[in-house]
Amino acid sequence: MTTAPDPAWPLGALFRSDAERREALSGKVAVVTGASRGLGAGIAAHLASAGIALGLCARHRPELVAVTRPRAHDGVIEAAVAPVAAAVDVADPRALAAFAERVLERFGRIDMWINNAGVLGPVGPLRLAPPEEVGRATAVDVSGVLYGSALFAAHVRGRAGTGVLVNISSGLATNPSSGLATYCAAKAAVEMATEVVAREERDAGLVAFAVSPGVVDTDMQVQLRASDPAQLPSVARYRQLEESASFASATWVAEHLLGLAFGGHEVGQVRLRVPPEKTQPTSR
Ligand SMILES: NC(=O)c1ccc[n+]([C@@H]2O[C@H](COP(=O)([O-])OP(=O)(O)OC[C@H]3O[C@@H](n4cnc5c(N)ncnc54)[C@H](OP(=O)(O)O)[C@@H]3O)[C@@H](O)[C@H]2O)c1
Repeated sequence: MTTAPDPAWPLGALFRSDAERREALSGKVAVVTGASRGLGAGIAAHLASAGIALGLCARHRPELVAVTRPRAHDGVIEAAVAPVAAAVDVADPRALAAFAERVLERFGRIDMWINNAGVLGPVGPLRLAPPEEVGRATAVDVSGVLYGSALFAAHVRGRAGTGVLVNISSGLATNPSSGLATYCAAKAAVEMATEVVAREERDAGLVAFAVSPGVVDTDMQVQLRASDPAQLPSVARYRQLEESASFASATWVAEHLLGLAFGGHEVGQVRLRVPPEKTQPTSR
């Protein structure tokens, strides 16, 4: 009998020192989908502040104030790299491919691809869910992740060096929650697809992770808290999380993703859960 690997975070310090972190992140390029708000916008801001060049997309064109890789002289910024930011529906494979092309034209390569875009989908018993809402959510949460994973895998296979794929999952991938059948099914599918891609692309230097970020206070949490208890029996739990302010920040999640991707760790498992934010991540 095999047991599923524990998704708890298996790594110690994210980077051994600030100098090692700077060195490891130097010149890196990342894509973040769903970067217009919520977790994706927070991840983008943190990666930008770490000096990473970015390709960002969402249905609403992401606006990132920070510019990456600023070079300053006497306190004046002389040069900086603006992100490639585009309005893209991840459920549209052609639009996503055109966006990836633009990022590659600008930066030459992509080192890390984070499929973060997602929707909650219909809330309530599946028997009552409008089929078009089920289909639409699945197109974004499953197909969108598959399209992004495929584009990045093809890119990594076609060039030298490694690449890190991060598919944002959820604790609901493995915890059935009444009222959220479409979302639970989508995240379970994302985790399995990530396992498959990790196997398929290992020989090409791609490492793939399905990462459950913990609870981050975003529009998705607002939607959960606003749900009718008759449709979502666990709504009290989401309201309680707000009362106790038990949220992880996007910065915390983003720094863990950087450590995972560039910290030089032998991780040995695909499914991971970012630990709760108790203390800020620091270098050892
Ligand atoms: N927040 C949490 O506690 C939590 C917990 C576990 C997992 N997650 C996961 O984390 C990810 C981000 O969630 P969030 O909480 O930040 O949600 P959110 O605040 O609702 O943000 C979702 C992001 O996805 C984008 N998006 C939605 N549909 C899209 C589409 N068809 N094409 C492109 N972009 C699209 C949205 O931008 P536009 O509206 O501009 O398209 C937005 O930028 C999701 O995968 C979610 O399942 C979140």
